[in-house]
Amino acid sequence: MLKEMTKKINTAIIVAAGSGTRLASEIPKQFLKLRDTEILSYSVRTFLTHAQIDEVIIVASEEYLEHVKERYPKCIIVRGGATRQDSVQNGLSVCSPDTQIVLIHDAARPLIPTRVIDDCLAKLKTLDGVAPTLQPVNSMVELTDSGYRSLPRHDMRIMQTPQCFHINILKAAHASTYTATDELALVKQHDPQARLGFVEGAPENIKVTRQIDLEIIEMYLRKLEV
Ligand code: CTP
Ligand code: MG
Repeated sequence: MLKEMTKKINTAIIVAAGSGTRLASEIPKQFLKLRDTEILSYSVRTFLTHAQIDEVIIVASEEYLEHVKERYPKCIIVRGGATRQDSVQNGLSVCSPDTQIVLIHDAARPLIPTRVIDDCLAKLKTLDGVAPTLQPVNSMVELTDSGYRSLPRHDMRIMQTPQCFHINILKAAHASTYTATDELALVKQHDPQARLGFVEGAPENIKVTRQIDLEIIEMYLRKLEV
């Protein structure tokens, strides 16, 4: 008799429960509109239409839960937490039992290219966790007590999202007492032996943080004809 196969699925978790204090807009940045389309909607559409993504979870704050439920009926919606890490944990808690790969993406990054998702999924065939990165174009220094020291730019990388993992390793890291501002750092603290790696990120995959970022994204929207 054929052994029954359970389908393993890929789940995207879009974290959208922040308040955007650095941008200081009237509403959280992920709900601002660019070209009549709310910022959150761009990444939701990219993940929902990706051939290898089976489930999309949106993590939203209490205040926006109803709005998000109404606006994104194809997604699973869950309440966020006080920190980004808490929000990711809440997202993990509602993943399907069949989820094998989980991709954590910032709602504040509307222009995530399909190519980056493809590359992350391909690399996860041999690794436990993957993140897209870019090489800095500027020289880098680290401030120290006695002044500063120059850093080798060629060895530095700027991290983007989605940060992608085999779900068990990310869940285990979340169950630990460590804290970190991104998932790769959290997993590395929890399990220094984890096989973690990088794929080439994309310049347009910037995170809305300041006012100027909205203008840069508008420019990309014109250029990319999204
Ligand atoms: N985020 C979240 N839950 C939190 C904090 C952040 O889901 N408690 C999400 C944000 O909505 C955003 C992503 O994590 O999509 C990246 O965080 P960041 O750019 O820092 O957004 P905010 O925390 O909203 O902005 P700020 O730090 O300026 O307050
Ligand atoms: Mg923040």
